[in-house]
Amino acid sequence: MCGIVGYVGDGNVYKILINGLYRLEYRGYDSAGIALGSAGKINIFKTVGKVDNLVNFCKDKDTDCTFGIAHTRWATHGAPSDCNAHPHYSEDGNIALVHNGTIENYKLLKEALEEHGCRFHTQTDTEVLVQLVSWIRHENQCTLVEAVREALKQVIGAYAIAVIAKDDPDTIVAARKQSPLVIGIGDNETFLASDATPFVEYTKDVVYLEDEQIALIRKGKPLKIFNFENEESTINVKKLELSISQLEKGGYPHFMLKEIFEQPNTLLDCIRGRVVQGGKKVVLNGVNDNKDKFLNARRIIIVACGTSWHASLIGKRLLQDMCRIPVEVEYASEFRYSNPVITPDDVVIAISQSGETADTLAAVEIARKAGAFVYGISNVVGSSIPRNTDSGTYIHVGPEIGVASTKAFTGQVMVLTLLALTIAELKGTMTQLEIEEMGQWILRIPKIVEEVLGLAPQIERLSLIYTYARNFLYLGRGYSYPVALEGALKLKEISYIHAEGYPAAEMKHGPIALIDAEMPSVIIAPNDHLYEKIVSNVQQVKSRGGSTIAIVTKGDTEISSIANHVLEVPKVPEMLSPIITTIPLQLLSYYIAINKEKDVDMPRNLAKSVTVE
Ligand code: AGP
Ligand code: GLU
Repeated sequence: MCGIVGYVGDGNVYKILINGLYRLEYRGYDSAGIALGSAGKINIFKTVGKVDNLVNFCKDKDTDCTFGIAHTRWATHGAPSDCNAHPHYSEDGNIALVHNGTIENYKLLKEALEEHGCRFHTQTDTEVLVQLVSWIRHENQCTLVEAVREALKQVIGAYAIAVIAKDDPDTIVAARKQSPLVIGIGDNETFLASDATPFVEYTKDVVYLEDEQIALIRKGKPLKIFNFENEESTINVKKLELSISQLEKGGYPHFMLKEIFEQPNTLLDCIRGRVVQGGKKVVLNGVNDNKDKFLNARRIIIVACGTSWHASLIGKRLLQDMCRIPVEVEYASEFRYSNPVITPDDVVIAISQSGETADTLAAVEIARKAGAFVYGISNVVGSSIPRNTDSGTYIHVGPEIGVASTKAFTGQVMVLTLLALTIAELKGTMTQLEIEEMGQWILRIPKIVEEVLGLAPQIERLSLIYTYARNFLYLGRGYSYPVALEGALKLKEISYIHAEGYPAAEMKHGPIALIDAEMPSVIIAPNDHLYEKIVSNVQQVKSRGGSTIAIVTKGDTEISSIANHVLEVPKVPEMLSPIITTIPLQLLSYYIAINKEKDVDMPRNLAKSVTVE
């Protein structure tokens, strides 16, 4: 959560920082703020709400400066307010700091500082950090880097910070632990940000800061990076593969709609080079290079959160069906505190679009320490999870900006399908013919997804009927059960309508009591081996007066004759059906949220990248 931007150079500092905040706004949008520095001066402007508010606020302000830092917040300590917005500053006004993360021992540190006479003006944990840096600097008469290092040694928690000081112009000190920070090295200018999107048009040369590293960024001087023992680290410059057009809406009214419609192409990118020889062979290097780990795996544990957890549930079925390996799926947040039994014969797969989710990252650490082989599935190249896992696969669906995940979900499910097929071939649990057949179907998927997107006008009309429903039930069985969970999550995230995903047969054990004319059910019922079973579940809803929208396979007659509305999708093998049936659900939630005039790209209270517990 929260976006950090920093800049030192000859460019228009204010403009670069504000544009950077707009790019990072998806990470949090409770408040925004900026600290603009020049020799002997730091101006801080901050306000509750989105970056637009900050821009309005700064209209008549002095934004002339030579360096600066900025922040867009997702509040963890203290309500979203002007006062709690970052940057926070020391009492003498000399030091300004922005922070992403949480300081767990902030109360203890605060009490100690209060004993030394420090006064606090906000409810944030962050203010403690800036006061601590300032106090250490005064006490020890040391440099900003030294003061930051000493302060961080006392901190328990997660952080990415950027710090500037009036008496140290054209300098930014940055550090991280468990929250991301990346440095962009330009021509006589240096950028700093939570991800590379704020500076993609200025430079492709990036340095990913590692945990417990401190960067010293100065104008006209080379970048320096130190560890907490004050030893200088080697600087590893990487090339960024990201283009500016990937960060724009490309004519769509919202990123979410653009990302839904991008799926034929993103799925193509996801399978490119991985399904080869016209579908005869599936190659996933991360698996092939670690063949023994997968072949000897006693079991596979998948850890993830939110939408990625839904993809994991589909992964479990794929791996069990194709590879006959026992699979467990865990919420990363539960797994990390469950005293899990992990052995070196386990393979742990961590799935995370952002690659930065704090709980998933913590689960990765636990699994590694227990000696398991840890495999990451992520979208963001160079993010923390891929860097902390033994091996892995990128889903390659391009930056996902809409907070509600869409194309990342289908990319994750596709990678899991490829993973299962690769292992199945190595293990011999599927015949060559079966693998080829699946490979050929996979190659057809992007076109089929394009066809399903053709349902958009029908779904838009349908959405008008259901916009004012206050509760929804999403039902599915087998491969369609996780799709039901994901459909319900999409609806609640962006339209704020309460929605529950349920295994269709489990409904009769309780939730059926909720069914009445006011509670519509969305039923995911493609023509698979559980089709006949779900027909009776639809009947059960209908006979209690509930209204039903069914996602069915083209040519369906049985459910079509019972359900109030049907959305027909093309026939695909059961194992590939989640990628297809999820598309109408993404569109349905999008149109309902639009009818309700909600901010679909930045829904309330959410953030794209959850780097706190
Ligand atoms: C999805 O729409 C949500 N924004 C959320 O559930 C998300 O999937 C979750 O926070 C996990 O994120 P990750 O994939 O980046 O780890
Ligand atoms: N803990 C800090 C706060 O509440 C930072 C939160 C964030 O990462 O945005 O202000």
